[in-house]
Amino acid sequence: MQRSLKNKKALVGASSNGLGKAIAWQLAGNGATVTLLARNEATLAQLAGALPTPENQQHQYIAADFSDIDAFKSKMDHYFSGNTVDVLVNNTSGPAPGTALEKKDADYVTAFNLLFRTVQYTTEKALPNMIARGSGRIINLTSRSVKEPIEALALSNTIRAAVVTWGKTLATQVAKDNITVNNILTGNFETDRILELYEREAAAKNIPLEEYKKQALETIPMKRLGKPEEMGHLVAFLASEQAAYITGTSIAIDGGLIRSV
Ligand SMILES: NC(=O)c1ccc[n+]([C@@H]2O[C@H](COP(=O)([O-])OP(=O)(O)OC[C@H]3O[C@@H](n4cnc5c(N)ncnc54)[C@H](OP(=O)(O)O)[C@@H]3O)[C@@H](O)[C@H]2O)c1
Repeated sequence: MQRSLKNKKALVGASSNGLGKAIAWQLAGNGATVTLLARNEATLAQLAGALPTPENQQHQYIAADFSDIDAFKSKMDHYFSGNTVDVLVNNTSGPAPGTALEKKDADYVTAFNLLFRTVQYTTEKALPNMIARGSGRIINLTSRSVKEPIEALALSNTIRAAVVTWGKTLATQVAKDNITVNNILTGNFETDRILELYEREAAAKNIPLEEYKKQALETIPMKRLGKPEEMGHLVAFLASEQAAYITGTSIAIDGGLIRSV
């Protein structure tokens, strides 16, 4: 289903690959002008030139590193000094895996900068213009782990939960300005990130990767990984006018993986 995002400007984080790329693709296909954000400039330039352009949009990119918070903030200052955003997709790279016993004080600071401060700062820069215009979409990509923590992902469980409660808090405040803020609880999707996690878990359990994958898929009621484009469709819907009354929610897209209600 096509939704018109004509004349909408979208900024999508971690978007040269995986989920972010699929989201950028859907938003562009629905008419939005997309600004991509990731580290590798050559990949970004190539993708910005390849995204769909049904409205003759001119897609752009920002080469920035989420793991250097001060440099990242400078890049955002520079970008927002000359640009506005209608649809902000807060997606970052994932934190290092590891259990609660393995992770130390400094790891939590690093993960907080990566997962929370980059998102909060980008939103802080995007919001004044959204409030002035009386419209906007903020979509935070988190993880199903905020509902059911994953033992091997202590940093993700902890800091993404903060993103969700921050998003909910903000949603209440900006609803009167017709700005929606929603959190997505991501299940397991076919991307490089999930492959890395599966490889790590298979090694930790000392079983072949294929065997681990089989076991992992068995835990998903739909018995398959999500397709990145399925995430793209959800975000395109939340970005659209049709989703104007949906705010402050946390929406799971996980093939039924979360068991709690
Ligand atoms: N896939 C899943 O099943 C799943 C499940 C739950 C949550 N998530 C989370 O969803 C997010 C996206 O995951 P994904 O599966 O799409 O990963 P992915 O396929 O590995 O893509 C990661 C993207 O982030 C960019 N990136 C990596 N490190 C970066 C950095 N330091 N600064 C800026 N950009 C960086 C990469 O491009 P460059 O290398 O060029 O920078 C790439 O565009 C992650 O936070 C992940 O933990 C994923």
